[in-house]
Amino acid sequence: MQTQPRVQCVVCHGADLNGTAIAPGIASRSPTYMFRQLYDFKSGARKGANSELMKLVVENLSIDDMIALVAYSASLKH
Ligand code: HEC
Repeated sequence: MQTQPRVQCVVCHGADLNGTAIAPGIASRSPTYMFRQLYDFKSGARKGANSELMKLVVENLSIDDMIALVAYSASLKH
């Protein structure tokens, strides 16, 4: 599970997860903030023009998966 989601994240969030025209940078951001966003995308509480893209990503992630992902992305340099 460690490598696969990371490959998917960089497709939209860019190399080193520093952001692209499609998606914001998620490297070195607050892990509690990012966890909340992932949780809200999954539950549907966060809805926006582009949130469907993230809903597809988080649909099959468990709470543990999301904690692992934000721990990893928060550890990256901006
Ligand atoms: C298909 C493209 C795509 C993929 C793949 C993707 N994202 Fe996103 N992500 C987006 C878009 C677009 C947004 C902004 C959505 C919005 O503003 O509603 C976003 C927003 C986010 C946010 C909220 C950032 C903020 O500033 O509030 C986080 C956290 C996030 N993504 C994490 C991830 C993680 C972790 C992965 C890999 C498991 C991932 N994303 C994969 C497109 C993607």
